[in-house]
Amino acid sequence: MIKGSMRRNFFASTVCLFTLLVMPLASAADHTPDELQRVVNEAHARYEDLKEGKNADYIPILTTVPSDLFGVVIATRDGKIYAAGDVNYKFSIQSVSKPFTAALVMQQQGPAAVKEKIGVEPTGLPFNSKIAIELYEERSANPSVNAGAIAAVSMVQADSEQDRWNQVLQNLSDFAGNELELLEDVYESEYSTAWSNRGIANVLYNYGRLYSDPEEALRVYTKQCSVGVNAIDLAIMGATLANQGVNPITNKRVLAARHVPELLAVMAMTGFYDESGEWQYTAGLPAKTGVGGGIVTVVPGKFAIVAFSPRLNESGNSIRAMKAIRYISGELGVGLYGANPE
Ligand code: DON
Repeated sequence: MIKGSMRRNFFASTVCLFTLLVMPLASAADHTPDELQRVVNEAHARYEDLKEGKNADYIPILTTVPSDLFGVVIATRDGKIYAAGDVNYKFSIQSVSKPFTAALVMQQQGPAAVKEKIGVEPTGLPFNSKIAIELYEERSANPSVNAGAIAAVSMVQADSEQDRWNQVLQNLSDFAGNELELLEDVYESEYSTAWSNRGIANVLYNYGRLYSDPEEALRVYTKQCSVGVNAIDLAIMGATLANQGVNPITNKRVLAARHVPELLAVMAMTGFYDESGEWQYTAGLPAKTGVGGGIVTVVPGKFAIVAFSPRLNESGNSIRAMKAIRYISGELGVGLYGANPE
């Protein structure tokens, strides 16, 4: 009896292990190259003429980015690229950088430190909310909102501000498999108007929830958000997460495989701020948005879907990028909770 149930348990565990380890690693093989290129082309064609929303304007220079730009990319976990539209235009990464710096903190201090010193709960509030800092005991709430992202930067183990910035930039570059650079004009524009984030950094410090000098954390965080990427860079960053933390272009391990699920869970719960619920309800995938107009989405074990378009909705999320990715998720049936066509 005991032995039989042990055998059944062994069988069940083996099947589970197979499902968990082998199935998600079955590459994008369940989708042919033609199919991936087709959905990318369709998503681009479908929303190309959509003009809804507007560029972010609280960072003055973002109003000068041509609003009609629109690019869509899938990058597979083995580094194959399927692209349509403006995928070579360099724009500021903004909040899409946040989970990748949280990953660096996880690498240095483990996921428990992220949970305890930042938090992992969704706020249901906008990305720059000050009320959330007062409402929640964690203060910083999670690594996707500005408070949690500034806290993550302050947790990077560094000897100096320069060292902190070098590590943050190198980590983003390692995820992208490309030496990324600061867009100086974006940094100047954002840092000279960063009154809201400066307030957040100082309040967190006052609560003992910021772990470096606040102005240093603010400067490095603002530089992090001002890093230039194109849609293909972002797609490789996402593909690195789809590939269990190994960059498919350089083959460098950037994040321990055992930390990838925690990071993807945070992205799923918080990546769209006060629209995170709706995003899971529709696209059903972990993702992160930025006010530069980029969105990176991860289909674990398979590929990343990225879209870029500068016009945003009220929550600061790119309208065409959301629609394009949601379309692809539905068409390919890759939502985590089951196929969910539009
Ligand atoms: O701190 C900020 O406000 C910007 N650097 C980033 C905000 C952002 O991208 C929000 N995402 N959609």
